[in-house]
Amino acid sequence: MDKILIIGACGQLGTELTLKLRELKGTENVIASDLLDEPVELLSGGPYEKLNILNKESFQIILEEHNITQVYHLAAVLSAKGEQNPHFAWQLNMDSLLTVLEAGKDKLQKIYWPSSIAVFGPDTPKENTPQNTIMSPNTVYGISKLAGERWCEYYHEKYGVDVRSLRYPGLIGYKALPGGGTTDYAVDIFHKAIAGEKYDCFLSENSMLPMMYMDDAVKATIELMETAPENVKVRSSYNLSAMSFSPKEIAEEIKKHYPNFEITYHPDFRQKIADSWPGSIDDSAARNNWGWQHSHGLTELVEVMIENLKETIVFD
Ligand code: SER
Repeated sequence: MDKILIIGACGQLGTELTLKLRELKGTENVIASDLLDEPVELLSGGPYEKLNILNKESFQIILEEHNITQVYHLAAVLSAKGEQNPHFAWQLNMDSLLTVLEAGKDKLQKIYWPSSIAVFGPDTPKENTPQNTIMSPNTVYGISKLAGERWCEYYHEKYGVDVRSLRYPGLIGYKALPGGGTTDYAVDIFHKAIAGEKYDCFLSENSMLPMMYMDDAVKATIELMETAPENVKVRSSYNLSAMSFSPKEIAEEIKKHYPNFEITYHPDFRQKIADSWPGSIDDSAARNNWGWQHSHGLTELVEVMIENLKETIVFD
């Protein structure tokens, strides 16, 4: 029986991944952990440990106490926030990965660690960006993710650690809010539209970025983790893709539901980050190696976000 520890469980991806894994593996077999004293409400129905992953001893104690066999290590400082404190972002993103990979040598059967489209940079081909191409990230987040990918492959080759990874595009879901990313606008915009407010976008109208509905991201993650090891032919991190759109395009789609919705554009420092990332991604390796298929495009994404957020947002 798998015993899973999720690090960074109260984050945008962590919340939804924990809920899904609890459904599939049994609540008692999925231990959520994060910096907070108490878990976010959605996770309060299952086991939780307060953990700062920079504290190696606490991590070891949790592994032993719960007989953990798998770790999903999601804690990270994202792209926009990382630029405000580059050294801390590097320390958190790198030291924590090395701590988890070390545990993979003897204690863990499998590790999941997310990478990102942020590993690409201004010199990378922008359209249909290949799995293997020029990588020249210029954010500390992107640099840490690219270095992390190299470490994952290294630990797999050298020590046989079964670590698996995906390069996520911007993730959009309604259950938890993102924090500190460049693609966060694509979640914020829904909250404003549903509240009947105008949205002032921090990216310019034609900034095309790869994006994905959260359920697809969760599905991809679990499918990659559950596939037989021989299907995992990429041990750095897999390109993963579902759709691409610009702020203008998503605003148009939202207007089909809220005709009076208005958007304005005031690009800030995050524009430069967005400009350095690809517009679309070639994820044929994931599709061929372990059968990845997405289910949501832009139209379905907007429908499902509005439908669900309408019910959860409380108007005062
Ligand atoms: N969504 C992330 C960010 O914007 C990219 O991985 O930082």
